[in-house]
Amino acid sequence: MWDGEHLHQFVKETFKDRSLIVVSNREPYIHSRSNGKIRCDRTVGGLTAVLDSAMKSMGGVWVAWGSGDADWEVTDREGKVAVPPDQPSYLLKRIPLTPKEIEQYYYGVSNRFFWPLFHKFVDRVQFLEEEWLCYKEANRRFADAVLTELKEKQSPVIWIQDYHLACVPLMLRERRPDATLSLFWHIPWPSYDLFKIAPCRQELLESLLCCNLLGFQTDSDRDHFLEAVEKEFAAPVDFSSHEVTYKGHVTIAKTCAASIDTAAWIKLASLSGIEKKVGNVRRQLGLPSTGFFGIGVDRLEYTKGILERFSAVDIFLTRYPQFREKFTFMQIASPSRMAMAEYREYGEKVENAARMINRKYSSNGWKPIEYLPSHVGSLDLAIYYRAADIAIISPFADGMNLVAKEFVAAQVDERGVLLLSQFAGAAREMPGAVLIDPHDLEEFVSEIKRSLEMAPSAKKAAMSGMRSHLQTYNVYKWVKDLLSESCLSHKRSQTVTPLSDRFPVPQSERAYSPSLIPPPDFPPLP
Ligand code: G6P
Repeated sequence: MWDGEHLHQFVKETFKDRSLIVVSNREPYIHSRSNGKIRCDRTVGGLTAVLDSAMKSMGGVWVAWGSGDADWEVTDREGKVAVPPDQPSYLLKRIPLTPKEIEQYYYGVSNRFFWPLFHKFVDRVQFLEEEWLCYKEANRRFADAVLTELKEKQSPVIWIQDYHLACVPLMLRERRPDATLSLFWHIPWPSYDLFKIAPCRQELLESLLCCNLLGFQTDSDRDHFLEAVEKEFAAPVDFSSHEVTYKGHVTIAKTCAASIDTAAWIKLASLSGIEKKVGNVRRQLGLPSTGFFGIGVDRLEYTKGILERFSAVDIFLTRYPQFREKFTFMQIASPSRMAMAEYREYGEKVENAARMINRKYSSNGWKPIEYLPSHVGSLDLAIYYRAADIAIISPFADGMNLVAKEFVAAQVDERGVLLLSQFAGAAREMPGAVLIDPHDLEEFVSEIKRSLEMAPSAKKAAMSGMRSHLQTYNVYKWVKDLLSESCLSHKRSQTVTPLSDRFPVPQSERAYSPSLIPPPDFPPLP
């Protein structure tokens, strides 16, 4: 079974003194001022949580946007700070973004174009040429920050994350043909019918094809990507080996489902005294000993299907009144992208729906929905996961959904049931989950009832298989598989056409000097 120590050894033996750089938009730690003091918090979102576990074992440099209001008070002149604060094990190199970049690169192209299109919310998609230019400029700044870190080191290993940084591979490849370059696409990749809506589709694919390895969450994401390449470029695509040869360079597309630090969740969920806390949670909710507790944990996000989940609870309590005063559903929703009107409006709708359902059914001090629109730390989450009889994870589209995996890992007594949307990437790996279609409320409601009434032996059998899968396929195995595949792919690519032939002349130095990152002179995001 892979753990942090194995990953550490793997990186040491495989990469020796090569630089290892991870790049993402979101930073793993954020420094902010509170009551005159600087505090450091983990950021919200599965991507940073799992990569942080891996980076703690691997070391190296993580390049990301410095978005905290005290971020620049703790960094050196190169924008670097060692993290985690209690046990520094890698360097976080922060990049300042201007208000225009935040608006056009992050909110604009990343979250009003890529995010809705790739999650099939076509009516929310907005593409503006001006924002696309800004997106590329911002990507250039990330690429420059990486290049500064590489210095003279040969064959660096660079791992780029997600849809925010899709143009970075081309920018790096032009300057460093010797790099082992990979990008992991954390969100779904839509079918060609949707993808072809994207005006920037050829530029996007051209850049991604500069990677040696492209990682996807599911086979269908990978195949949709390959289909897009074939249709746009008429490039040779081998659908059996998942290789694309484009302009003499080979890129391998690989399915490699992201995973969690399973052992860390098991440890949290088994802490001494946790049973007492679990009992307290159920008591505080006013549940009788024969009562049921359901949980949902998401970013406050329209793709997650929180409103429809509440509708399912509403119909469930109407149809099966025997569960009134016996079933409480807790929804934890971490505020996310709240500077965007659509996210604020969604938050208001969710809050109103919870209020409306509570008004309809509350009695004798019991209410059906406990809504917590805030971020909850991992220890409290582990307590809630243990206290829950069921978890309902019902997104309309989701690259993976690591919460589903956390819930399963935390079921140390194997008494919970996972209700999971068939549209979450995690559904492919969770055969013991009760799969639901969030659009089909009839079925959704019946499955809630069936899950609550499932025999303990059936629950145990379903949970145990999924838990042993997660013990093997954890975050360390995920990262190791991706990095070793990208190295193999890099070697293979060099034997086909050396990349130095494809990008013979390094581009001249640009006016923007990445070596000194100035502290930003603009207010950070709220
Ligand atoms: C998704 C994306 C991540 C992102 C996270 C949180 O999981 O795949 O790249 O970091 O959401 O969203 P945010 O916009 O707050 O970074």
